[in-house]
Amino acid sequence: MKRAQEIVNGRCSLCHGAEGESASPIFPRLSGQHPEYIAKQLADFKSGRRKGTMNDQAAELTDDEMKALGAFFGGKKPKAYSVGDQDLAAVGRYIYHKGNSYSGVAACSSCHGPTGDGTARLPRIAGQHAAYLEGQLKDFNKRERTNDNAVMHAIASKLTELEMRAVSVYISGKL
Ligand code: HEC
Ligand code: HEC
Repeated sequence: MKRAQEIVNGRCSLCHGAEGESASPIFPRLSGQHPEYIAKQLADFKSGRRKGTMNDQAAELTDDEMKALGAFFGGKKPKAYSVGDQDLAAVGRYIYHKGNSYSGVAACSSCHGPTGDGTARLPRIAGQHAAYLEGQLKDFNKRERTNDNAVMHAIASKLTELEMRAVSVYISGKL
């Protein structure tokens, strides 16, 4: 944990915040995220399976450091955030819990859980920045999120832009 704290202070905190509660929506929140998911994403950034800003950040990390960083951020208590546009969030709530049977979109809750908490193999998306979530959905749609995108590509490719925005806004307000 000491090593994780050093790495966080020296680098990760600049973008993700010392507690994993990044202020800018460009940088995903990491507090309360599943340690296994964090470690896996870091390994994918390191190997280049997932592409982006993080490739350089993960390049030098060892397996033990990735695990420790997962435990560090995963152990932080996530904060609650409120949603501005309640009407949009209501559309998102429907999609999240019921999907869209007209276009064949599965309910997000069937995998990410009714509260958006995810599992060890599936990210927690509750309380995440709406703009980050929406950006990832667009990347999955275009397969620009390059690692393990099969499931989410199938889902994102059936969502309209309005549905992507609405579901992202809804999830961002969940704790
Ligand atoms: C220069 C800014 C920056 C720094 C420093 C940085 N990150 Fe990131 N991180 C990002 C961005 C931006 C993303 C979103 C993915 C992308 O666009 O590449 C991200 C994504 C992630 C993700 C994936 C989250 C998800 O929900 O899928 C993890 C995990 C992560 N960072 C961990 C870390 C750790 C641990 C450190 C310190 C070693 C770190 N980051 C340092 C900018 C940064
Ligand atoms: C069949 C299961 C399944 C369903 C249904 C599902 N997801 Fe996912 N989702 C996944 C998996 C698996 C991943 C992680 C991919 C990886 O390991 O990189 C993921 C990742 C994500 C991410 C990236 C999170 C991050 O931190 O970067 C977002 C955003 C997301 N899903 C949103 C949604 C939304 C919105 C819906 C409903 C419209 C949905 N998902 C439905 C399985 C699912």
